[in-house]
Amino acid sequence: MFFQKGTQTLEIDMTRIPNHIAIIMDGNGRWAKKRSLPRKAGHKAGAEALERIIDDCRALGVKHLTVYAFSTENWKRSQEEVDAIMDLLRQYLKTYFRRFMKDNVKMNVIGEISRLDGDIQEQIREIEKLSKDKDGLFVHIALNYGGRDELCRAVQKLAVQIEKGALDSETITEDTIESFLDTAGTPDPELVIRTSGEERISNFLLWQIAYSEFYFTDTLWPDFNRQSLEEAIYSYQNRERRFGGR
Ligand code: IPE
Ligand code: IPE
Ligand code: MG
Repeated sequence: MFFQKGTQTLEIDMTRIPNHIAIIMDGNGRWAKKRSLPRKAGHKAGAEALERIIDDCRALGVKHLTVYAFSTENWKRSQEEVDAIMDLLRQYLKTYFRRFMKDNVKMNVIGEISRLDGDIQEQIREIEKLSKDKDGLFVHIALNYGGRDELCRAVQKLAVQIEKGALDSETITEDTIESFLDTAGTPDPELVIRTSGEERISNFLLWQIAYSEFYFTDTLWPDFNRQSLEEAIYSYQNRERRFGGR
């Protein structure tokens, strides 16, 4: 498939589309600020960008999309902003979900959802249940997610198994640890994208990104579109992945 970047025509190899793309959707606040709008308007535009990118990932044949929507650190923001994000989330889960179901999209949430309001937890459980047999794009939404928090919770679950005698500490392997993570069963992302010009991980998927390729772009998340996604995939396809070999 060809796409245009400025005056160049570039080609994406459709047989080598990453199976799993993870995105740190950053820059909603700056997008709003540039337009003298409240931060909330940036988050709303961000939610709309996500809706479009889900369609683009389906069209390109991506199998897993993990998006960082709210981190364990994002509670530090003003109550007003946190409330606005949670309200948008409620709306998002309600309206978009109906549409995605029809498109064969499967959804789950990674992160510690018990800190979210009860009605949101209920919505999440409902969506996970209703979409569990879908076999199109699998969208993983990271909510109240932190990579360190996920590892802590995994160690707690593992310790319980040892205490019960169901697991022997000597037999713990990387696969054992993986099986206790929120992402158990999901292949690691080949490509991690962060928008808005920041070049850091901010506690996203610490275990899973051991060998991922990173793509940073100055584009603010609400402006990220099909063209931006194709540029990221193009960049990924033109790298040499070595995995420690030669
Ligand atoms: C990302 O956009 C969305 C969340 C973290 C919820 P930001 O709100 O972090 O936007 P900036 O970084 O302030 O521009
Ligand atoms: C990371 O963005 C979290 C999400 C995109 C949900 P932040 O804007 O919270 O990260 P920092 O504070 O710039 O590291
Ligand atoms: Mg930010």
